Amino acid sequence: MVSTTLSPLPIAASRIRLEIRNLQIRLVQWRRSLHQRPELGFREHLTANFIAQKLTEWGIEHQTGIAKTGVVAIVRGRRPGPVLGIRADMDALPIQEENEVEYRSQHDGQMHACGHDGHVAIALGTAYYLSQHPDSFVGTVKFIFQPAEEGPGGAKPMIEAGVLQDPAVDAMIGLHLWNNLPLGMVGVRAGALMAAVELFDCVIHGVGGHGAMPHQTVDPIVVGAQIVNALQTIVSRNLDPIQSGVVTVGRFHAGTARNVIADTAELSGTVRYFNPDLVNFFHRRLEAIVAGICQSHGATYQLDYRKLYPPVVNDGAIAHLVRSVAEEIVETPIGVVPECQTMGGEDMSFFLQEVPGCYFFLGSANPDRGLAYPHHHPRFDFDETALGFGVEMFVRCVEKFCV
Ligand code: NI
Repeated sequence: MVSTTLSPLPIAASRIRLEIRNLQIRLVQWRRSLHQRPELGFREHLTANFIAQKLTEWGIEHQTGIAKTGVVAIVRGRRPGPVLGIRADMDALPIQEENEVEYRSQHDGQMHACGHDGHVAIALGTAYYLSQHPDSFVGTVKFIFQPAEEGPGGAKPMIEAGVLQDPAVDAMIGLHLWNNLPLGMVGVRAGALMAAVELFDCVIHGVGGHGAMPHQTVDPIVVGAQIVNALQTIVSRNLDPIQSGVVTVGRFHAGTARNVIADTAELSGTVRYFNPDLVNFFHRRLEAIVAGICQSHGATYQLDYRKLYPPVVNDGAIAHLVRSVAEEIVETPIGVVPECQTMGGEDMSFFLQEVPGCYFFLGSANPDRGLAYPHHHPRFDFDETALGFGVEMFVRCVEKFCV
C-alpha cells in the first residue's frame, strides 16, 4: 500500500476535511462520468454542459461559451476582498483507451489520459464546498474551466476574452494530478515549474538523383543527419551549463528507395527550457545551424519555428502559500517536494504571465492498485483518493489567500 498519512489537524481544519470526505463519492461520480465522455480541445461541449448543469443546480453564477467551450464561475465570500482564480483544464487526448474499467471512454479514439477529468471534478468540488461555506472566506473565487490545454491552447484565448477582468483576478492557482508522484504528495516550487514548449518543422531541399552517382546530387539525408547531430551542440556547447534545455528531433523523413537520393528531407522536433530569458536563444541558434550546414552543402531549407507555450513560472509568495498548505495537510516525508520540476509544458503559463500565481502537482499514482501508468498512456488512470486531496488543497489555499 502507498501509505499516505494525513496529518492531525486542529478542530476547524478537521471539519473541512470531514466535509470534503463526504464529497468524495460525488467527486468520483463526476470524474467517471467525464471520463466516459472525453472531448478534444475546443470541442468540450458535453464537458461544458456538465459543468454548467452542476453550477446551475448549486445556484453558482457562471458564464459559458468563453473561447468556444470555456466556462467561468464566480463564488463570493462573506464580503468583498481579493480575487483568486482557480484554473482547471477540460480537454482529452486522441488516444484509444486500453483500460478495462466500467467507466472507460465511450468515445472511440479519445481518452482522458492526462487526468483533466479529475481537474474538472476537483474544481467543481471546490466551487460546491465554497458556495456552501461563503462565511469561510472574503473576496471572490473565480473558477476558470479552460479548453484545449493539450493543444492548440485555450488559456490565451480565454485571457483575450477577458476572463482575468471583471472582477480583476489578483492571483491564480491550479494543479495537475501527477502520476510521477505517489498519492497525496505535493510537488511545488517558486520559479519555473514547467518548461517552455517550442516546435519546429524543417524541410531541407537538396538535389535528388541516382544512389550510385552522389556527385550529381545534393543529398538532403546527409545534410539532415549533420543537422540532427549539430543541434545537440545548442544545449551542450551554447547554453550556459547552469541552465537546462532540451532539443529533440522527433521526426526525420526522407527518401523512398535504397538506390535513390531524395530531393528533400523533413525534420521536426521540440525545444524545452525553463528560463524565460532564453525566449529567442534556441530559435536563433537552431536557425544558424540549419542555415550554415545547408549552405556548406549547397542545400536550401524552409524552417517553421513556433513558440507554443512559455515556461510555467510560479510567484514566490503564492508558491510559499501553497507549500505551507501542503505541509499542513500531508505528513512528511511523503508530503511535499519543494523543488519538483518537469520539462513538460502547460499553457497555465499564459495566466501566470498576467497575474502572480502558482501551479503545482498533486501525486496520484498508486502502483499497488495498478494506477501508475504515465500520463498520455492508453492505460493511464489515477487513484481517485487524490480528488479529495485536491479539493482540500484548493479550499485551504482560498481560506489562506482570501482573508
Ligand atoms: Ni495535462
